[in-house]
Amino acid sequence: MTVTMPPSPFLTGLMAPVTDERDDRDLAVTGKVPEGLHGMFVRNGPNPQFAPAGAYHPFDGDGMVHAVYFEGGAPRYRNRWVESRGLLAERARGHALYGGLAEFTLPDPEVVAEGGLIKNTGNTHTVRHADRILALMEACPPTVLDRDLATIGECDFDGRLVGSFTAHPKIDPVTGEMLFFGYSPIPPYLRYHVVDASGALVHSVDLDLPNPIMMHDFAVTRDHVVFLDSPAIFDAASMMSGGPMMRWAPEEGTRLGVMPRRGDGESIRWFDLDNQYVVHFFNAWEDDGRIEVRAPRFTTMPGGFQFDDPTGKEAPMPWAWSVDPAAGTVAAEQTDDRGGEFPRVNDDLAMQKTRYLYNCMARTWEFEFEFHGIVKYDTETGGATEFFYADSEVSGEHAFAPDPNGTAEDDGWLLTFVTDRATERTDLAIIDARNVAAGPVARVHIPRRVPIGFHANWFAE
Ligand SMILES: [Fe+2]
Repeated sequence: MTVTMPPSPFLTGLMAPVTDERDDRDLAVTGKVPEGLHGMFVRNGPNPQFAPAGAYHPFDGDGMVHAVYFEGGAPRYRNRWVESRGLLAERARGHALYGGLAEFTLPDPEVVAEGGLIKNTGNTHTVRHADRILALMEACPPTVLDRDLATIGECDFDGRLVGSFTAHPKIDPVTGEMLFFGYSPIPPYLRYHVVDASGALVHSVDLDLPNPIMMHDFAVTRDHVVFLDSPAIFDAASMMSGGPMMRWAPEEGTRLGVMPRRGDGESIRWFDLDNQYVVHFFNAWEDDGRIEVRAPRFTTMPGGFQFDDPTGKEAPMPWAWSVDPAAGTVAAEQTDDRGGEFPRVNDDLAMQKTRYLYNCMARTWEFEFEFHGIVKYDTETGGATEFFYADSEVSGEHAFAPDPNGTAEDDGWLLTFVTDRATERTDLAIIDARNVAAGPVARVHIPRRVPIGFHANWFAE
């Protein structure tokens, strides 16, 4: 089946959707796949099956998960659409039924009954918790996939989940809990939840915010959760009259909220900050009574949320925040002048102090969803090592795969899809995290172009 897509920069070139689901075995490898790499690399992203009904924003596209399996022997590749109820309704009719974020329209009532008010594309991230693989998009509940990427269906935690589920839940490697939030353009603007290690939703609270904001990520330590309330505000009136859905409102200010992990609205403490926005956090941890937070920081609403022109213009810089609840202060400083996003750490140390931070770098910030390299920060020495792919290559998020035989924090590998603009060939690049500057130790050749997408992850066997 071929579908003619309109000439959007987010539907052409390296972002052009692919039209088939494949299974490819015995992938060719340049270099050597590390012995300890056993598991599944996943990369989610938007891949609309049908030409959009109106203006297209990259957040709109149907989710497609691309996976590379390392099971001993040569790796294999598989890709599958996230088969949302909305996509199934579209397949039944052979065309798009949902308008996108840049040109929102309400679908027909029969479509809403069948596929939901908005399409749960599941296109943003993929996580694994309590033996379930969850495809996530922040406006809707999770979609459960099996290990073969077949869609099982939406998960509402036995009816206990009310509202949406962020694409960035945090999984505690010590307790096995999964902590998450959901935001909403109608009150309550923020809900916070805890799922226990068995997968049961055990804690849900509504949190008061002054405005309906778009909150993409948050940070969690052993004892606390940290929310950044930045003034990227939903503007329903503007949206309904065909204008932008989001508004940056600097007069509303920015606040950082700290709450105990099983806390509620009564126990949250807010600290005023200069106006800023964080799309993704590296990590956060407790340190001698202080709460340490690390993240790339924007000074305003990032390009991706400006639905009339979703191209990035500002390079986010890595910052460190040190919250001292006893003194009632937040000390904050920029820690480097290399712009970067899609920050990651070794998730085995999530919520604990991490010495090493990994960030994706771009040569230019004209396009929000493209990267060209990676930097590893050593926060103990203050040093940094970086690697850029070839001039013609575009990389994505690097997922950290720990070495099962390792003992040091950086014993492991960083995995990302890399696509060459000229040849449109995609490799899965594997970098030894101990020696980022050396570049990939192996490249797994994927027998198809994998479109530029959003988040990558690693599920160890
Ligand atoms: Fe994200």
